[in-house]
Amino acid sequence: MGIAPWNRRHVLSLADFTPDEYNTVLQTTASFREVLSRRTKKVPALQGQVVANLFFEPSTRTRSSFELAAKRLSADTLNFAASTSSLTKGETILDTAKTYLAMGTDLMVIRHREAGVPQAIALEMDRLQSNVGVLNAGDGLHEHPTQGLLDLFTLCESLDSDSPQLELLQDKKIAIVGDILHSRVARSNIWSLTASGAEVHLAAPPTLLPKLFAEFIKSDVATPLPRRLFLHWTLDPALKDADFVMTLRLQKERMSQFLLPSLREYHQQFGITRDRLQQCNPQVQVLHPGPVNRGVEISSDLMDDPRLSLIAQQVTNGVAVRMALLYLMGGGKS
Ligand code: NCD
Repeated sequence: MGIAPWNRRHVLSLADFTPDEYNTVLQTTASFREVLSRRTKKVPALQGQVVANLFFEPSTRTRSSFELAAKRLSADTLNFAASTSSLTKGETILDTAKTYLAMGTDLMVIRHREAGVPQAIALEMDRLQSNVGVLNAGDGLHEHPTQGLLDLFTLCESLDSDSPQLELLQDKKIAIVGDILHSRVARSNIWSLTASGAEVHLAAPPTLLPKLFAEFIKSDVATPLPRRLFLHWTLDPALKDADFVMTLRLQKERMSQFLLPSLREYHQQFGITRDRLQQCNPQVQVLHPGPVNRGVEISSDLMDDPRLSLIAQQVTNGVAVRMALLYLMGGGKS
């Protein structure tokens, strides 16, 4: 199968991704996975280009993953941390972005606690008629498209490592469990997984899964397959015969009070354990975007079980997916 041409300057959301675009990312990621398994894990694809990582919010894996991805493509990387930057002197975010533009940045990776900041920077870059591509590395409660794509790759790869494609997930049952309300990861995953033809089942206490989520996918452009999304306020109906279970962190830093009785009770009702997985498909595998509250959303032994947990693969694949996107966005420009 050939790779469809890439026409997207910015990657800000998965809401309007087409099946061709998903498959282009999956196939390109597969080839970078191969590069990463070599002794020399570096290619000259982005030599001479500048990738700026602008993280206005704490991050371990996403930030390191983007940095490593850029380095493995031979780009020059600029790393910015809000706390040691001129933001503390009153500079606006757009002026910070324009400073990086003036230094010759080609690709900007943006994480911010407010939804919409990467979009605002992308609009400004377009208004200035620059060729800069902007990648959303997580904005508020809105989206985290590269996490959605690495999760998608990890799922498809676990079904067919030689040829990971979107179509492999058709009619699979995927449960997303946990703090959906505060999760940009869940929002990006809902777009990608429903586009694949999978049945997506969300499960959380009602305070963390408002009914409004049922409307979520209706606002989107049409997909060839009908999007299938189901909501549950107890765990068992979501887990029954599930092929994959994606757990999410309880985002205590974003929670107002009174959303949950206690962490212990939450674990009893929604925590994923080996026992709870008995009702899933016997081949079931578990994902988590990290960071994990061990013993809260997932039991510690399950998290560390390489037979059942895809968590380490998610992190490994994150580098290859980000290489693929930086490559496609950087290459699309030349
Ligand atoms: C997530 C995030 O920051 O949105 N983590 C990540 O990027 N891997 C999820 C979280 O913080 O719980």
